[in-house]
Amino acid sequence: MILVYWLIFVNLIAFILYGYDKSCAKKNKRRVPERTLLFWAWIGGSVGAFLGMRFFHHKTLKPKFFVVPVLMVLEIIICCVCLYQNYHLVTTDHEVDLGLSSEVTIVQISDLHNQFFGIKQKTLLKKIEAQKPDIIVVTGDVVDKSHTNIDIAVDFFEGAVKIAPVYYITGNHELWLGSEKTAPLFEKMKSLGVIFMDDTYVDMGDYILAGIGDGSLDSFVAYGPFDDSKPVIMLAHEPQYNALYQKLGADLVFTGHYHGGQIIIPGIGGFVSPEFEIFPKLYQGMTDMGGMQLVISRGLGNSILPVRINNFPEIVVVKVR
Ligand SMILES: [Fe+2]
Repeated sequence: MILVYWLIFVNLIAFILYGYDKSCAKKNKRRVPERTLLFWAWIGGSVGAFLGMRFFHHKTLKPKFFVVPVLMVLEIIICCVCLYQNYHLVTTDHEVDLGLSSEVTIVQISDLHNQFFGIKQKTLLKKIEAQKPDIIVVTGDVVDKSHTNIDIAVDFFEGAVKIAPVYYITGNHELWLGSEKTAPLFEKMKSLGVIFMDDTYVDMGDYILAGIGDGSLDSFVAYGPFDDSKPVIMLAHEPQYNALYQKLGADLVFTGHYHGGQIIIPGIGGFVSPEFEIFPKLYQGMTDMGGMQLVISRGLGNSILPVRINNFPEIVVVKVR
């Protein structure tokens, strides 16, 4: 959305500037420098600049401004590519054998960050429903601190609870927002039946489902006693705390947080982690860590860096046997 607001802003400014300069020319007033008019086209306002040129019949015959329609075509192509990269939903499948008596399908949703996938999140929800999940796990950052939109998150939960039981743990963005700002969201989620898993566990019969809230990652010691003959499936936001998850006895952990490193370079990997680690070793997929399977979802939305490249938003589906 930040990108969309930026494009609206620069294109409006470009359009207005071309009109203003035309009126200055007519009234023999001080003109807007040509380099300023071209600057706004170069920084994303080429559509506004082109429309301004045509609408006000301004600079259309000046060779210097022939670059504006070229920029417009280039910027439209770049925008289409960015939209496709940021909104084309994919599913990633994994299989894990934990010795369960029957197969369980777990759909993981992570790092929504207020991203919009159709009216009432229908595009996202339809894809989840198609997987026929037994449970849906949501591993944090459903909202974003810098562009918080609780309604988009609520739309998702309203649809998700109709598909399967939803289990949720907090991410760093919910933590950063603070209890006052997250209270309306959490109250709504609880009223919908979303199960909060911060620092607690549920005996699911065949396995233990445990969770750690993002605020406890540095201090969490242990869960209350549970049947340790059963495999433990854990929910946590940040994958870099994998030693803690191992210590707590996890067999399978669902995490997110890394956004796939934002830009995935073929043969090299994800570019940057939220901890500003360049080319982090772990940034997506499922990794065997001494018998514990660590799943890192690339997530669905963005935060500080608003662009994904070669890193489609992801729904993770794990079939656990
Ligand atoms: Fe995130």
